[in-house]
Amino acid sequence: MDKKIDGVLLSEEVIEKKVIELAQQIKADYRQEDDLLVVGVLKGANIFMGDLIRKIDLPLEIDFMAVSSYGASTESSGVVRILKDLDADIKGRHVLIIEDIVDTGLTLQYLTDILKRRKVDSLRICTLLDKPSRRKCDLHIDYVGFEIPDRFIVGYGIDYAEKYRNLPYIATVEE
Ligand code: PRP
Ligand code: MN
Ligand code: MG
Repeated sequence: MDKKIDGVLLSEEVIEKKVIELAQQIKADYRQEDDLLVVGVLKGANIFMGDLIRKIDLPLEIDFMAVSSYGASTESSGVVRILKDLDADIKGRHVLIIEDIVDTGLTLQYLTDILKRRKVDSLRICTLLDKPSRRKCDLHIDYVGFEIPDRFIVGYGIDYAEKYRNLPYIATVEE
């Protein structure tokens, strides 16, 4: 099955502005802490996280988690398998999870449940994109870049069948 890009939803310039804005909010909120751990959810968050952390002018560390939904379905099932866990214990730490997009919210609901049990001092979520109309659970998101309609999108880390992650902007594709 082939998909064609049919429009730019968010340009490089628009994304960059938002990334700076989010980084400033994050910096203001964490200015008292000297122990921020930024956790990216692979693979989608990679590009956004790379840009974001370079705009957060605070001492921080980074780590990544890789997860995969069970089943062949393209719909998130809510059952998540951890493919790569965090390298270190996060007990007592301030953890900020970075996502490219929250759709049903099931991936993050599962992840935050797991991480909270590790007795973090604080746990917050930052996502570039949010599709609230698709939500299947009650998930609190602390930092949202853009709320977007339920369109099929690619680019800036987001894939279609693993392709298009390297597009520097976010595009809609024909459905
Ligand atoms: C996508 C996206 C989020 C998740 C959101 O990841 O990057 O991580 O789905 O979906 P949800 O809110 O419905 O759970 P995907 O599982 O496609 O993996 P990828 O990041 O490697 O593309
Ligand atoms: Mn992802
Ligand atoms: Mg994907």
